[in-house]
Amino acid sequence: MLVLGIETSCDETAAAVVEDGRAIRSNIISSQVEVHEAFGGVVPELASRAHIVNVSPVIDQALEAAGVRLEDIDLLGATIGPGLVGALLVGLSTAKALAFALDKPLVGVNHLAGHIYSAFLCDAPPRFPFVALVVSGGHTDLYGVEGHGRFQTLGRTRDDAAGEAFDKVAKLLGLGYPGGPLIDRLARQGSEDAIEFPRAMLDGDSLEFSFSGLKTAVRTYLIRAEKNGDALPLPDVAASFQAAVVDVLVAKTMTAVRRTGVRSLAVVGGVAANSGLRRRLEKASAQAGVSLAIPPPILCTDNAAMSAAAAYHRYQAAPHRFTTDHWLDLDAKASLPLESWG
Ligand code: KG4
Ligand code: ZN
Repeated sequence: MLVLGIETSCDETAAAVVEDGRAIRSNIISSQVEVHEAFGGVVPELASRAHIVNVSPVIDQALEAAGVRLEDIDLLGATIGPGLVGALLVGLSTAKALAFALDKPLVGVNHLAGHIYSAFLCDAPPRFPFVALVVSGGHTDLYGVEGHGRFQTLGRTRDDAAGEAFDKVAKLLGLGYPGGPLIDRLARQGSEDAIEFPRAMLDGDSLEFSFSGLKTAVRTYLIRAEKNGDALPLPDVAASFQAAVVDVLVAKTMTAVRRTGVRSLAVVGGVAANSGLRRRLEKASAQAGVSLAIPPPILCTDNAAMSAAAAYHRYQAAPHRFTTDHWLDLDAKASLPLESWG
């Protein structure tokens, strides 16, 4: 079954063709970084406008790269939330128009489910039941995944998401946007132990996260250093900050693994591209005897291959549900929980 995935939840216009939820035939991502970087973050209205310009050419490229025609597509999957409503509407409306014209079913994909299903595109996909850490710009969530579409929330952030902390600290350091990859690169030249930033573990065994205190600690450090006229070792700040985030993410994820007794772990979302996090997770999961599914970095940040994979599995679970009446009624949602995919 050939699935065309469309993803426009934030600032990437993406389309992909995936076969049977597993084999990526094409994966096209058009980034809008140049549109937003002057503003230091994503400007929703500009994102919507750029999606309108890019969405059809990106779909054409995805079909061409996959060597298929539109008529060969069996199923469509488009992200419906959570995300920027105007941005989501561009992808969803395009998908509805195509599905209607082709007389093919359309699945509305929860973006968090999309990220989790990126793990199924790994060479060694996770096995049920597994724990999933979703670390992106908007989310830092731990889920227990018992089967396709059966997600149980184990913990989440009380304030900033990990990716948001990376982006805000990068701004404080004057690095630009998006901050995650820039801090990742700078951290390689610094020392993790140079500055002791706080690790908010929140009473021992808790699976909740908090990153706003860490961001404040970095700000306070920078202000004090400036006041004292100290030289600012930016690579050390980046490395020490990153180590604090990674320590908390790894510790809580491994606590969730221990507590649930699963043997399989998936780590997904933009922050899963972080080299420090990947290294530490590989070590921790090997020590715990747990198999780790962490997608290649291009599948960690927003893409449509993951949306196609999620759409495939959701469709397979209940094909009769996806009637024209059902999907014509789909709407974009700024927030959309992931307890179940419906
Ligand atoms: O999953 P994603 O592409 O979009 C959302 O759904 O939010 O995640 C984007 C986030 C941004 O905050 C970005 O700074 C972060 O992922 N990110 C990284 C890295 N690459 C992207 N954070 C740390 N290290 C990276 N290498
Ligand atoms: Zn995302």
